[in-house]
Amino acid sequence: MPKKVLVVYYTQTGQLREIVKSVTAPLEADPEIHLAFEELKPRPLFPFPWTSDEFFQAMPECVKGIPCELEPLTVDAQEDFDLIIVAWQPWFLSPSIPFHAFFQLESTKKLLNGKPVITLIACRNMWYMAQTRIKQYIQEAGGRLAGNILLYDKAPNLLSLVSIIRWMFKGKRDRYMKIIPPAGVSQADIDGAIRYGLIIRESLQEAGFDNLQPKLVSAGAVDVRTGLVMIEKRGIVMFRLWAGFILKKGPYGAKSRLLRVRLFKYYLLAVLYLVSPFATLLYQIIKPFRGKTIKKQISLYQSA
Ligand SMILES: Cc1cc2nc3c(=O)[nH]c(=O)nc-3n(C[C@H](O)[C@H](O)[C@H](O)COP(=O)(O)O)c2cc1C
Repeated sequence: MPKKVLVVYYTQTGQLREIVKSVTAPLEADPEIHLAFEELKPRPLFPFPWTSDEFFQAMPECVKGIPCELEPLTVDAQEDFDLIIVAWQPWFLSPSIPFHAFFQLESTKKLLNGKPVITLIACRNMWYMAQTRIKQYIQEAGGRLAGNILLYDKAPNLLSLVSIIRWMFKGKRDRYMKIIPPAGVSQADIDGAIRYGLIIRESLQEAGFDNLQPKLVSAGAVDVRTGLVMIEKRGIVMFRLWAGFILKKGPYGAKSRLLRVRLFKYYLLAVLYLVSPFATLLYQIIKPFRGKTIKKQISLYQSA
């Protein structure tokens, strides 16, 4: 019997689709593996490129897990898959709104129940808190997280912050003013992700999923940057407070909450550009004394 694999993904720019293609190429090439793709389609679609107001309007829903509407899934919830790959992206240190919507569907619970799940993340570089939420969703659905693969923008944090803002607000991804590198995951990393597909194929064919994550980690699938974990841990607490404050003024897109959304935007930009460089510097100073915590964090985020 051929093995059946479902790949669920959402993408605005096409980046995650390209990564999915690269990772699944070895599975696609195997006649003993049947691949089904499910692209999430929010109704209405989120804008791309975004205006600044539209972009920051999305924060409370991401952080509080308030779903959008999705086009009905094309996959039959009763189908019995051998593996489900969820290719998702973080928005505001949280799962993107389409994935909150996906994980809250009754049909998703049926699909995932008792099944091995691999998460495939493509982001700028901040995914730690969001993956914790995704792990919870998978667990609540009765699924078993068997592996995690991360692709991210390896440019220095403050430079990728500039390039992603330009990408999200102008749709331009190329190198900018000589010093700002191209936005997003590099083509070399996208092409190289095929090696994770080879490891997944081996698990599907014979090896099973018990030892999948250590193999993925050895192949470089999860690079943990503990300085960013520290920033995220503090950031998500503040985001939750801001989300509650903004939601009091109305739902997603409401004009009545625009003033608070804009205040949040200025707060975030100030934190990112003025506070985070000092926090990172401080972190480098205290890092040698935090060996145990750092080891623990690396093992937590590298585990499935
Ligand atoms: C509203 C919004 C918020 C985002 N927040 C984060 C974030 O918290 N961490 C991160 O690493 N990337 C963040 N990103 C970047 C995305 O994770 C993703 O890499 C980018 O949107 C392109 O991917 P896609 O078009 O394939 O979805 C954000 C993007 C959007 C649109």
